[in-house]
Amino acid sequence: MIPELSNPSVLMRDPQRVEEILQTMLQCGSNTLQVISDFDMTLTRFAFNGKRCPTCHNILDNSSIITSDCKEKLAKLLGTYYPIEIDCSRSIEEKLPLMVEWWTKAHELLVQQKIKKDLLAMTVRESEAKLRDGFQVFFDHLHEHNVPLLIFSAGIGDILEEVIRQAGVFHPNVKVFSNYMDFDEDGVLKAFKGELIHIYNKREGALLNTGHFQDLRTRPNVLLLGDSLGDLAMADGVQDMENILKIGFLNDKVDERKQSYLNAYDVVLVKDETLEVPNALIHYLTANK
Ligand code: C5P
Ligand code: MG
Repeated sequence: MIPELSNPSVLMRDPQRVEEILQTMLQCGSNTLQVISDFDMTLTRFAFNGKRCPTCHNILDNSSIITSDCKEKLAKLLGTYYPIEIDCSRSIEEKLPLMVEWWTKAHELLVQQKIKKDLLAMTVRESEAKLRDGFQVFFDHLHEHNVPLLIFSAGIGDILEEVIRQAGVFHPNVKVFSNYMDFDEDGVLKAFKGELIHIYNKREGALLNTGHFQDLRTRPNVLLLGDSLGDLAMADGVQDMENILKIGFLNDKVDERKQSYLNAYDVVLVKDETLEVPNALIHYLTANK
């Protein structure tokens, strides 16, 4: 039905079920569709030429606007908590408080750095941030077909917006839920706004934004893209959901995590650095009936 679903990177627990969901969603029409996507390591690349690509946080962590002492501390946090994030031998309940600890400590360190708002654009420009191949088609096609795209990220909203703005794809159909920086009157970072979003509380984040989902209540069909099991909760705020197709990027610790990803996601993309499969699904779902 969709040739890209036969790509070697694609795994599906139940290919027939995937086909059924896609057919039903196609029947309903693209005016009933909304896309909800995670950002870091979902819309951005996990690795390039064998080297890890940065998350929103890492863009700051590695930048010239952070002191070397602070860089060292942030790198130490990453070294401690990232292995916990991807450790499938620990339950989400066990990992959750540790993730809160990671985000809290990292944000405290960033606030101590007195980061200036007007240096963020340069920081992103000089970073190694990389959207996945096919990003242009992904964003442009959704925009052309008036399909709303919610980017729901536990990263840093100001950085994320700058990445997609500089890539020329921050179209009006894009809405972002994320952790936003709060600056004082001199444009110096003083805190982060609102409730913290980390990888395991996206459900709470979704429920805090009922207005957005209320506006989209005529779009009960959801294409969800994520790279963490916590991303599955991003659609928990969707009103009167009828169909959902969940696409999961499995970037790291493939053998250990394959089964849990297959159980949770309808389509699993193993070490696939492109948006080729999501784009093929979006083209299919927005084709004229
Ligand atoms: O956009 P997304 O929700 O994927 O952002 C969360 C990611 O940010 C996590 O997967 C985590 O590895 C990363 N992170 C980081 N540094 C922090 C906190 C989170 O790189 N201090
Ligand atoms: Mg992610």
